[in-house]
Amino acid sequence: MQNIQSHHEAFLKHLDTFTKPKEPSTLYDPINYIIQLGGKRLRPILTLMTAEIFGSHYTKALNAALSVEVFHNFSLVHDDIMDDAPLRRGKETVHEKWDINTGILSGDAMLIMAYQLFENYDPNTFQNLAKLFSKTALEVCEGQQYDVDFETRDDVTISEYLKMIEYKTAVLVGAAMKMGAIVANASEDCQNSIYDFGKNLGIAFQLQDDYLDAFGNPETFGKQVGGDIIENKKTYLYLKCLAFSSQNDRKQLEHLYSVNPSDPSEKIETVKQFFIASGSAEATKKEIENYTKKAFSVLESIKISEDNKNALIAFGNDLMTRNV
Ligand code: IPE
Ligand code: IPE
Ligand code: MG
Ligand code: MG
Ligand code: MG
Repeated sequence: MQNIQSHHEAFLKHLDTFTKPKEPSTLYDPINYIIQLGGKRLRPILTLMTAEIFGSHYTKALNAALSVEVFHNFSLVHDDIMDDAPLRRGKETVHEKWDINTGILSGDAMLIMAYQLFENYDPNTFQNLAKLFSKTALEVCEGQQYDVDFETRDDVTISEYLKMIEYKTAVLVGAAMKMGAIVANASEDCQNSIYDFGKNLGIAFQLQDDYLDAFGNPETFGKQVGGDIIENKKTYLYLKCLAFSSQNDRKQLEHLYSVNPSDPSEKIETVKQFFIASGSAEATKKEIENYTKKAFSVLESIKISEDNKNALIAFGNDLMTRNV
């Protein structure tokens, strides 16, 4: 298999053809801005890798990979409005740089463009891609709604949290890989197994995202550190912290998650101390490892070469040790 670097480069080249200036610029400039801000491009790389693993040339999967990345960027533009986030990939978010209405409509257009990219495939592949895409995109909406609903609920359980992140994040990672398998005409069994691999990796990925939101380095993280604490997000860190704490600490933490101070720096620091002292920060790291291993165990049942398995394992391990 090609190395990950060359998939990344091929994808960026293809992306360049997509981000040409168009009128009205007030619609398309924000689209090109967010897409060219960078990012890890992990979902499209996984689409290309999977297509190749199942016997296709990766170039056949470039438009499916692009679709996944455009959809992902659409979801970020709307997510940043919903989370009131000022920073994305080290730069201003779209709604900060322009305004909320711009973020809404440019986001809508990106969702449509993502779908449109499937027109590059034959009718059968088109139908399979579009079916998967529609199911996945609806699940992402459901996950995003749970995420917002949980902000104002004080009885969220760990299993509800895990379902929420499966929907808002993990299904897209699974779908990115399944699209590669669809393009390569892999068997249904293979398509479903690689989807499960991606989904478990995606759960680990979102747990890590939550961890970095609290403990990432503000110099390099690219997003506002402590954003989830400001927004009272019921993350694994928070829920485990409640579970591990004395009644007194629990009361304090719950109180902190019911207020929205104009200067949140003290709230963020206190909450982070609770996360560390209670052992929830460590428990979160352990859970990231558990889900990564769960993903790896799915690989055992798929009939692909050891080399290809090792490439996917290396990719998963890299994600676990990332700091952006
Ligand atoms: C951010 O995704 C949103 C989540 C699902 C956590 P990424 O961390 O993949 O964002 P970029 O594309 O690399 O910026
Ligand atoms: C993102 O979850 C999920 C989607 C964008 C669908 P987050 O809200 O945690 O993502 P970041 O941290 O803003 O990237
Ligand atoms: Mg967010
Ligand atoms: Mg969010
Ligand atoms: Mg996050």
